[in-house]
Amino acid sequence: MSPDDLKTLIRSVPDFPAPGVLFRDITTLIAHGEGLRAAVHHLAARAEGAQAIAGMEARGFIFGAAVAIELGVGFVPVRKPGKLPVPTIGVDYDLEYGTDRLEIDPGAISPGLKVAIVDDLIATGGTALAAAELLRTAGAAVTEALFVIDLPDLGGADRLRASGLSVEALMA
Ligand code: PRP
Ligand code: ADE
Repeated sequence: MSPDDLKTLIRSVPDFPAPGVLFRDITTLIAHGEGLRAAVHHLAARAEGAQAIAGMEARGFIFGAAVAIELGVGFVPVRKPGKLPVPTIGVDYDLEYGTDRLEIDPGAISPGLKVAIVDDLIATGGTALAAAELLRTAGAAVTEALFVIDLPDLGGADRLRASGLSVEALMA
């Protein structure tokens, strides 16, 4: 399935989780076996050369882990607070609809490890910028960020590019 075909599998839900937000729901995409496989395949093709994939809890785990498996590399979970059982490094960040915090286990990163970030969607870019900052603090070389969906009106991809990351999305 092409990225254009995949777009037909995304459900748009108005006013979730807050009034005025048009929520792009991947539930309908990942329920579709061929669509899920194609999305993972398109992302993995763009991540070739990465030595590890980092994905953000929770939706980034779905695509990120699958891409890591397809490439035969490890997966680094970028977690919401209080979930990792070891000393973490963390950063607070703003979302389209609130604020949150991400944490990683710095021991998951060896110095210079080439890590690609994978998530379902980029909106403001706050999540991906926070993840990149954490991964770099732990010693990773983060060069690219890959998404199923870009919401260009929210400017996240431009913010990421301005920070030096290469950014690709399967659809806008
Ligand atoms: C969503 C989405 C991205 C992030 C994008 O996650 O999966 O991670 O928002 O927004 P941004 O570009 O403005 O930062 P959310 O925090 O809603 O968590 P979830 O994956 O647990 O649903
Ligand atoms: N994360 C941030 N903004 C979002 C949106 N509009 N739809 C789905 N996930 C999101």
